[in-house]
Amino acid sequence: MGVGTLEERRQLDKGVPSGPRHQPDFAYLGVDEAGISSGHRVYQQNMAVMKRREPSPHLFPQNTVSSAKAANCLLESPSSHSTHFNPYLVNMFIPNTSFEVLDDTRPTDVSLPAFMVSTTRGFLPRADPIVALPPEFDPIEDLLRRMPVSTQSGHPGLLAVGQLGDEVQKLADLTEEVEKYHDNIPMMNALYRDYSFLASAYLLEPCHMRFMKGEPTGFKPFMEYAGSYALFNYRLQDPDRGLEYDNLRLIRAFEHGLDPSSSEAGFVLVHVDMVKNSGPIVAGAMSALSALVDQNGTDLTAQRKAFNKGLQTVLGGMQKVNAVMETMWGKSKPRSYTSFRTFIFGITSQSMFPEGVVYEGINEGKPMSFRGESGANDSMIPLMDNLLQIQMPSTPLTEILQDFREYRPSNHRQFLVEVKQCSEELGVKDFALGVDPHFAATTNEQHEQLLESRRLWVKLLNEVRDFRWRHWCFAREYILKQTSHPTATGGSPIVTWLPNQLQAVMEEMVEIYGSVGGQLGPTDLGDECRDIMDLVSRQRDKLRKEVDKYCQERGVSIRN
Ligand code: HEM
Repeated sequence: MGVGTLEERRQLDKGVPSGPRHQPDFAYLGVDEAGISSGHRVYQQNMAVMKRREPSPHLFPQNTVSSAKAANCLLESPSSHSTHFNPYLVNMFIPNTSFEVLDDTRPTDVSLPAFMVSTTRGFLPRADPIVALPPEFDPIEDLLRRMPVSTQSGHPGLLAVGQLGDEVQKLADLTEEVEKYHDNIPMMNALYRDYSFLASAYLLEPCHMRFMKGEPTGFKPFMEYAGSYALFNYRLQDPDRGLEYDNLRLIRAFEHGLDPSSSEAGFVLVHVDMVKNSGPIVAGAMSALSALVDQNGTDLTAQRKAFNKGLQTVLGGMQKVNAVMETMWGKSKPRSYTSFRTFIFGITSQSMFPEGVVYEGINEGKPMSFRGESGANDSMIPLMDNLLQIQMPSTPLTEILQDFREYRPSNHRQFLVEVKQCSEELGVKDFALGVDPHFAATTNEQHEQLLESRRLWVKLLNEVRDFRWRHWCFAREYILKQTSHPTATGGSPIVTWLPNQLQAVMEEMVEIYGSVGGQLGPTDLGDECRDIMDLVSRQRDKLRKEVDKYCQERGVSIRN
C-alpha cells in the first residue's frame, strides 16, 4: 500500500539526520498509522500485529503521496528547520553554532514547528496547544470523548468495556482533510496528539482489560511525552490566568475523562507546571555559554561575573522546577499510577510485545519498536547533563539514556546536541572549576568569583541530584511498591536504571568537591556546600542499600 520504508519515514522527520534509533516526529505518524485503523490486534508468536483491512480506511492519514507531501513541507519550509536563519525572529544563537534559541516565540505563526526552544517558554510549545480539531475531524473528537475508561459525564467509556477497537474500525479515512492543514504545523501537532492517543488506546486496550481482571500483563505504545501526552495536552481554563496550575486542564486522557482532580491529570499537569519554569533554565544556560565565547579578549573578572550570573539564573529555574516536582505526591496518588500508565507503555523491551509490533503493510512486514511515553523524554535534565558535562558510566543502562535523547521534538533534540558540543568546545566545566592554571585567579576579586563559580556548579549538580533522588522515590512509591512488572513505560529496567544516573551524579559531586578542595582552607566552599555534600554521602549509601535489596528480591543484575 505504498507506505514507504522506515528509513524513508525517518528522512521525512523534519530534516533531522536519521540514525538507527531515530524516533519519528508526528510527520511519521502522518505516514503509517494507516495499518492501525483498519484492523485489530492479532498476536502471532509473541508479536503484535496491527492488521489492516482491505480496502483500508485509516485511523492515521495514509502515507502515499499525501502524507509524504505533508511531511516534506516540514522539511522544505525554511523556517521550520531550526538551523535556518529567520530574519523576523529576534533570537540568540548557541555560541559558534547556527542554532537559534527564540526570545519571541511568535505564537501566531503557524509555519513554525509547535516546539522550538525559547528563553521565555523554555521547552513548552511556542503557543498553548490547540485544543479542538477542525470540524472535519469531529468523528475523531467524538471518539476521543467517548474513549476514556470513565468519561467526563462519569459514565463508563469505550475503554471500560473494551469497545474502542470496534469503534476505531468504523472511522473514515481522513487523509485528504489532514492534507489541507499541511502548512499549519501546530495543527499537524494537534492531529498527531489526538491520533497517537487513539493509537495507544487501540493497541493497549486488551492490556487494560486484562489488568482490570488482575491478570499479569506486559505492555507497549508509541505516543511521545512532549508532542502528545504531556506538553501538548493542556489547555487554559481561563486564558487570562495563564499557566497557573489550577487553571490547567487536560485535552485528552485515558482513565477518568478530563477530571482535573484525577491522578492522571495530576501526573500530566505537574509535568507542564514544571516545564513552564524552563525558560530561565534555557536563558541562563545561553548566558553562561555566551560569556565564554571570547576567552582571550575579555577581562577575566567581567567574564566570570557574566558566567556566574548565567549559572545563577539556571539555578533559580532548577530550584523552582524541583519545588513544583514535590507537588506530585499530592496531585497524583502513588496507588493510582499503575492503572492509567497501562496506556502509556511503549513497545520496546516490554514482555507483551517482546519482538515489537508489525504494522501490516509497513516496513516490509518487519516489527518495529518504540519507547513509551516517559518523563525521560523531557529536556530539562538532559540540558543540565549536557551543560554540566556530567559523566555517566559506560553501562548498558547509559545506552538507554542516550536512546531516550532521540524521543523528543526535533528542535529540542538538536538543541541538546548543540549545547553538549558547545559546552565541551568552550570548556565550560574547566572554566567553572578553574583548576587549570590558565584560569588561575590573580586578584582577590577573581578568587572570590572563582569560588562562586564552584559553589554554583556544586549547587547545580545538587539540583540534578535532588531531581533524580525524588525520581527514585517516585519509582519506589508509585511503581516498585505497586507492581512487579520489571520495566518502566519507556522500557528501562525499573530497579536499576534511575539509580544508574543518580549514582553517577553523586559520584561526580564527590569527585568535584574533592578536586577543588571544597571542604577547607582558602578554597573552602562554605557551609551550604558542606551540608549538600553530607547529604550526598548519606544518600549514596542509602541508594546502594535500596537498590541491592530490590535487585535481590527480584533477581536482577545491578548493571542491567
Ligand atoms: C509519579 C511521578 C513519576 C513517575 C512514577 C516517574 C517514573 C519514571 C520512570 C520509571 C522513569 C524511567 C524511564 C522509563 O520510563 O523507562 C522516569 C524517567 C524520567 N522521568 Fe519520570 N516519573 C514521574 C514524574 C516525572 C516528572 C514530573 C518529570 C518532570 C519532567 C519526570 C522526568 C523524568 C526524567 C527527566 C527521567 C529521566 C531520568 C534520568 O535521566 O535519570 N518524571 N520517570
